[in-house]
Amino acid sequence: MQFTINGEPIDVTADIRTSVLDLLRNYAGLMGTKKGCDQGACGACTVLVDGERINSCLALAVQYQGRSITTVEGLAKNGDLHPLQKAFIEHDGFQCGYCTPGQLCSAIGMAAEIARGVPSAITRDLAAEQIAQTETELRERMSGNLCRCGAYNGIIEAIAETYSGQAAAETKERARA
Ligand code: FES
Ligand code: FES
Repeated sequence: MQFTINGEPIDVTADIRTSVLDLLRNYAGLMGTKKGCDQGACGACTVLVDGERINSCLALAVQYQGRSITTVEGLAKNGDLHPLQKAFIEHDGFQCGYCTPGQLCSAIGMAAEIARGVPSAITRDLAAEQIAQTETELRERMSGNLCRCGAYNGIIEAIAETYSGQAAAETKERARA
């Protein structure tokens, strides 16, 4: 099976029942993506495939041949952290290394979904040209990624600041109130 992982082509001989998550960890040696529940419930295994977020524990690698997969290891470029990674540090958006890779990949995929006009379950105005990145909208869209230690507020602040300056200001204002 052939893939492009973090910009590098890779050719893997693996059992056809191998998940994308196991492909990354066991065959590509990329340990950044974590196995939490292994059943689609926690989001720890989230990666980007051609820019879209997926739960890699539920995805069969064989179905993703030829696709471009990005993991947390591929977010920084030339030693420079992705703006969202910097914001996570600034806002204390993480406490463990376990769920953070999935949170980062999920948020990047989510921002692209909003930019494409993909509605969430709570988006009211489906005809809007631009979906408002309210705190509620961000929380709903990130609800598939669990943080067991409760760093949600920092995570949302980091996402808001990275993808919408105004939303970040509102979030901080609310936190101060
Ligand atoms: S490990 Fe994939 S969703 Fe939990
Ligand atoms: S940052 Fe990982 S559980 Fe909260």
